[in-house]
Amino acid sequence: MEKLTGKKKVAVFISGRGSNLKSIVKYSKKKNSIFKVILVISNNPDAYGLKYAAKLKIKNYGVKFKSRTNFENRSLQFLEKYEIDMICLAGFMKILSEKFIKKFAKPILNIHPSLLPKYKGLNTHERALKNKDKFAGATIHHVTQKLDSGKIILQKKVKILKSDGVIDLRKKVLKIEHEIYPKAIIKILSSL
Ligand code: GAR
Repeated sequence: MEKLTGKKKVAVFISGRGSNLKSIVKYSKKKNSIFKVILVISNNPDAYGLKYAAKLKIKNYGVKFKSRTNFENRSLQFLEKYEIDMICLAGFMKILSEKFIKKFAKPILNIHPSLLPKYKGLNTHERALKNKDKFAGATIHHVTQKLDSGKIILQKKVKILKSDGVIDLRKKVLKIEHEIYPKAIIKILSSL
C-alpha cells in the first residue's frame, strides 16, 4: 500500500457531479496537508465524480444500492481494506444506518446546502427563497442516524439578494461549500 507518512486517510462518498470532492482533493494536495483522499465510493456507478477520481488515480468504486445493507457491507470492506480514518459525504444522497455508523466508529462528516437546523432534506434553496430569508448558506456536520441533525462543525452564510433565483443561490452556496468543507475536515482530523 502507498506510504502516506502519517497522513490521515479520507474516503469521500458521492452520488453525482463531485465538485465538493474536487475541492477536497485539491486542498489535500497542498503542501503540508494532513490528509489524503485515497478512496471514493458512489452509490451511482455513472457518477461524474468517479471518473474524476479515476483520472487522479484515486481508488474508486461504484457500489450499486441494491439494498442499504448490501451497499453498507461492501463499503465497509473497502473502508477496512484502505484503513480509512474519516468518511466525508459530499453530495451523497442516501442515508446511512445507525449500524453502519457504529461499525465504522470513526468520524463521518456531511455537507448540507442550508443553514442547519433550517431546511433539512431536499430543495433547500427553493425553501429559503419561498420564505424570503435574508441569508442562505452551507453547513458541515457530524453524521448521525437522524437526517441532517448531527453536531455542527462549521457553517457559513451568504446574503440572499432580491434578484437571486434558485440557480444564483445554488451557485453562491456551492462556492462557500468548497471553502468550508476542507476546513472542517482539518478541524476534526487535528482533534483525533
Ligand atoms: C452540494 O450542493 C451538496 O451540498 C448537496 O449536493 C450537492 C452536491 O454537489 N448535498 C445535499 O443536498 C445532501 N443532502 P457536488 O456533487 O458537486 O459536490
